[in-house]
This record gives sequence, C-alpha cells and structure tokens, in this order.
Amino acid sequence: MPRHLVSVDDIRDSELESIFLRARQFRTGARDAARSSRLSGRVVGLLFLQTSLRTRVGFATACARLGWQSVSVFEQRASEVSMAESIDDTLRVAGGMVDLMVTRLPVPVGPVASSSPVPVISGGDAGPLAEHPTQALIDVFAMEQERGRVGDLHIAICGDLRMRSARSLTRLLLRRRPRKLSLISVPALMDPVLAGNPDPILDRCQLSEVSDVDVLYVTGIPHQAIPEDVRDTLRVTSDVMKRLPKNAVVLSPMPVIDEIDSQARCDDRIKMFNQSDNGVYVRMAVLEAMGDASAA
Ligand code: CP
Repeated sequence: MPRHLVSVDDIRDSELESIFLRARQFRTGARDAARSSRLSGRVVGLLFLQTSLRTRVGFATACARLGWQSVSVFEQRASEVSMAESIDDTLRVAGGMVDLMVTRLPVPVGPVASSSPVPVISGGDAGPLAEHPTQALIDVFAMEQERGRVGDLHIAICGDLRMRSARSLTRLLLRRRPRKLSLISVPALMDPVLAGNPDPILDRCQLSEVSDVDVLYVTGIPHQAIPEDVRDTLRVTSDVMKRLPKNAVVLSPMPVIDEIDSQARCDDRIKMFNQSDNGVYVRMAVLEAMGDASAA
C-alpha cells in the first residue's frame, strides 16, 4: 500500500525536521542540492480539478528543479458535475502511469487516495475537514526563515479559520508549540475543532488589540461569508501595521482577496511573496521524501 500525504498528521515530527533541513539546502544551493538528489527520472502526475496557481505551478517547478518530469492531467470528465469518469478511476489510471501524484480535488482526498497505486500528495481538498498539508509546511518554513524557531514565537492567525490552509497550519502549530497562538476571527469563520480547544497556548483576541506578535498570518475571507462591517475588523490596514513590532512579519497563503489593504501592502514587513517563492524548496523536499517512500 503506498503511503499518502493528505493531512499534516501524515508527517512525523522527525520527518518534518528532515523536510525543513532539505528545503534549506535547496534554498541555499538549489542546483547542487538538486543534482545530488537521491532519486532521478521520477515522473509526477499533477491532477488539479480546482483552480490553483501556487500549488500547481510550484510542484511543476519543484519537479523541474529536481530534474524530474511532471505531467499535467487535464481530465475534464472527472471535474464535470455529470462525472462521466469517477475521481477514483481517474486516480487509478493516471497513478498507474507515474511515480507520484499531486492532487487538488473538490472532494475529501482521504477516501479516494486509496485508488492510487502510487503515493498521493494532496495540494488541497474539500469538505468539512479539508486540509492543505504542504501549504502548512511552507507556512511554518516561512515563519522559521523570517523569525526563527516556532517555539519562541507569538503567532496570530487572522480570518477564516475554517479554510483548509488555516486548518492544516493550526493543527501543525499545535504540535510545534509556539510560545502563544492567537486566533483572530468571528464565530461564523471559526473552525469548530479550535473553538472549544482548551490548550493553554491558545488565545482569542481582536485584530485591533494585536501589538506584540512575531508573525501575523492572514487568510482570505470569501465575499458574502460575513457582513462587510465585520469583514473590515479582520482586514490588515496601515493602522494595524503601525501597532506591530518593527521585526514582526505578515504572511499569507494567498491568494489575497482584500484582507490586506493596498496601503498596508507597501510595508516591507509583508513577506507573502518570499513565503511563496520559498515554497518551491519545500515542495522539492516533500517530493523527494515521498519519492523515497514510493521507492522503498
Ligand atoms: N495557497 C494556495 O494553495 O494557492 P493556490 O490556490 O494558488 O494553489
């Protein structure tokens, strides 16, 4: 049975350290590190049945930088509502031709991943427990690159905490134990798993109260999800930036909708593009780790 990466819980703590170490090696000497990759000539299938810029292009680029090949699986029939071909069959067929699959699916990935004969790396799925595990790795890598070890940091997560990126990130942070983890949201956007969590590192506050964070992580909020006046209270403005420490950073999984306003975007503490650039190195490390698992 191949091993899949569909949740942050699929990655052990020791593996996390190896992935981050390898990503740092790729970042500091990408070409040499890629040339010395233990695996070569792997072929990765990219099955994206929902839109994606960063994850789809990021994994294709990571493959190219490792000297591997990627194949985009444009399967219109599996993405149509009428579904002439099931996602299970699509994964079985495409997975039978490649060494690894990277997916973004409009359904929970866990139940269908078992149809794939090769490891599946989820690039985001759907449903009440949706996750985006590789985005969470990229987010934690960015926090440690920008501000040092998570264990020393006060991290605030603001916006729609039901989003797959936020859900995977909060699960991973609860394992990595920041000094303090502040949740800034409203009941309609709160992940029920977090709402009743008594963990002592968790704190609930308003964006207008935040002043002592090391990392402010902001997620997009879909239009019409909450009234506009409530939405305004979750937007990063130049007033919010003025209250943050000089060495704080603002990160985002992107795409940004309007949760960081145009004036605030000019502040050089907004590091979301560094975060997305470095995502390629994390994806290279994830591909290598999962490629190792498929070769075992
Ligand atoms: N962060 C993220 O998943 O972006 P994409 O939807 O562009 O892949």
